Amino acid sequence: METNRKEFLCCPVCKGDLIFTGTDPRSEVLSEAFCENCNKAYEWNDGYLDFLGNKGLIHSSKQEKFVRSIYAKFYTPLTNFMFLLCGGVKNARLEVINHLEISDNDIVLETGMGPGDNFPLLVARTENLKIFGIDIQKQMLIHSLKNIRKWNIDAELFRADAEELPFRDERFDVVFHLGAFNLFNDKKKALDEMIRVAKTGTRIVIADESEKGSKIFNLLTGTKGDVIPPIDLIPDKMLNITMETIWRSYGYVIAFTKP
Ligand SMILES: C[S@@+](CC[C@H](N)C(=O)[O-])C[C@H]1O[C@@H](n2cnc3c(N)ncnc32)[C@H](O)[C@@H]1O
Repeated sequence: METNRKEFLCCPVCKGDLIFTGTDPRSEVLSEAFCENCNKAYEWNDGYLDFLGNKGLIHSSKQEKFVRSIYAKFYTPLTNFMFLLCGGVKNARLEVINHLEISDNDIVLETGMGPGDNFPLLVARTENLKIFGIDIQKQMLIHSLKNIRKWNIDAELFRADAEELPFRDERFDVVFHLGAFNLFNDKKKALDEMIRVAKTGTRIVIADESEKGSKIFNLLTGTKGDVIPPIDLIPDKMLNITMETIWRSYGYVIAFTKP
């Protein structure tokens, strides 16, 4: 994909314009960046632009950190196994993806894309998508870059925080998140960022485990905490807000349209 990154990217912190540096003739594509406004610098790292540097997931305990590191390493087989409880992996993913309003030539953003396991399902139903993905974990960037090469899927992937997206306002026709919303530190901020980068008329979709689903994970990680699907965080002016139970009641999906 020969995307002009300048058209899409901005500083995740102050939303200022980025300047791409480097002597590579393709420096717009493969280069470090720094913000013209706040001077923050962002490094190119093994195939992706890294907007986070030393920042990463915050863990509540050593047990949680250990379980999540194993999960990240074997993410796809473990997730496919867990989705058996929810009616099978393809069915479980489609219960979310079917809520997207997606057409040929759309520009799609998945926040927290993991290894990119939703991408094949997106390209299977449309032509000429432009896919963008961000994830906070380096391991997931390594997996997803390997996967898109293997699957021959054209996608632009960045290491970034869903609560501070490195994208300009109103760039995406489709914006969705599957699987980590319950873990976000500032859920309202993550939701507002999804809304900010979506174009007018975009259907925004968020799915994660329900209280019932998270109980299983909490047993493994030793964490506590109730799951409250973020329906009350959605600004009143959003249109056609829906919430459904999915994954045989182990999950929820919320969808709404940006006016
Ligand atoms: C359960 S996985 C889901 C991956 C993918 N969406 C899927 O459907 O298979 C959750 C992902 O969200 C990422 N994540 C967690 N917190 C994040 C944050 N604040 N910003 C960006 N990604 C985050 C994790 O690194 C992980 O890859």
